[in-house]
Amino acid sequence: MIPIANPEFGAREKDAVAEVLDGGRVADGPVVREFESEFADFCGADHGVATTNGTTALHTAFEALDIGEGDVVVTSPFSFVASANSIRFAGATPVFADIDLATYNLDPASTEKLVREHDADAILAVHLFGLPADMARLRGIADEHDCALVEDAAQAHGAVHDGVRAGSLGDVACFSFYPTKNMTTGEGGMITTDNEAVAERAASFVNHGRAADRPAYEHVRVGHNFRMTSVLAAIGRVQFDRLPEYNESRRANAARLTEALADAPGIHAPVEPPGTRHVYHQYTVRTADRGVLADHLEAEGVSSVVYYPKPIHFQPPYEDSDVTAPAAEYAAESVLSVPVHPSLSNEDVASVADALRSYEGGEQ
Ligand SMILES: Cc1ncc(COP(=O)(O)O)c(C=O)c1O
Repeated sequence: MIPIANPEFGAREKDAVAEVLDGGRVADGPVVREFESEFADFCGADHGVATTNGTTALHTAFEALDIGEGDVVVTSPFSFVASANSIRFAGATPVFADIDLATYNLDPASTEKLVREHDADAILAVHLFGLPADMARLRGIADEHDCALVEDAAQAHGAVHDGVRAGSLGDVACFSFYPTKNMTTGEGGMITTDNEAVAERAASFVNHGRAADRPAYEHVRVGHNFRMTSVLAAIGRVQFDRLPEYNESRRANAARLTEALADAPGIHAPVEPPGTRHVYHQYTVRTADRGVLADHLEAEGVSSVVYYPKPIHFQPPYEDSDVTAPAAEYAAESVLSVPVHPSLSNEDVASVADALRSYEGGEQ
């Protein structure tokens, strides 16, 4: 069975880990600072703060923006639940806007309506499946309503919108380095921002509220231990080096699948709107009878996964919310992701393409 994800670690990652272990600084240390600095630089941001994972990166971003109790954050209900959980962890309330069914990202009109109705303090834009949200319009809404714009870029390392990379499209951005992601440290996360004060508060929050200009064991705020280890940063630096090649491979695989879907009218291929660069964290198709498609793919030796079968406002911790999101609900019923990752061989991609092409499901 061709797997949906297959993270690979080679001799370079192993050597980098061995070097850290031999050097003795296994927790926080200079390797983490180097990783932060090169990742932020790549995103076009002035500062990077590494964290234990993408969820803690998001939680930290809200803390650093001083968004908490009594505050409202408008976000997408069609995302991994961590997007909403991080808002709750910060003490704020998530409010769910609808998505644009073509891109699976926040619908700006629905977002603006809710920002206005709730006098929201922030928008959390998720760049789902590797495609940036419509950040030009979301930036306009955030500016007009004086609220912060946060990127959930957990799935979008290297994605581009209007010539700008994810990581510097909002006031703060958060990445995940979970194994299925475009680059991985096993578990890990990163915050990027141009705002020095936000970066300082984030770095302090992940380190028990210490401050760079205060002596050790003085704590200027309540903080957490969300620090990335040097062992993981060493892996991250090697993976980061490979990110351009990984993303090119994802894009090339995606192009072959999209070409195959031209012969499968019952299936909607992912779109790449003008001015964007999709990095295909997932290659996600949509079809009216996805269970039939999933069975067909399985019979052809191709695995598939539904990301995500239940919108967040249908999940028990969030289900009281008064939400109007028909596009998100339809997406949850009809999407299916198929393998697109860089470890696929030429033959694997051909098999996934053939399996899609030979699907004879109904028209939508
Ligand atoms: C959109 C989105 N947001 C947030 C997260 C949370 O990242 P992590 O699993 O590293 O905590 C993920 C990762 O799974 C994600 O896909």
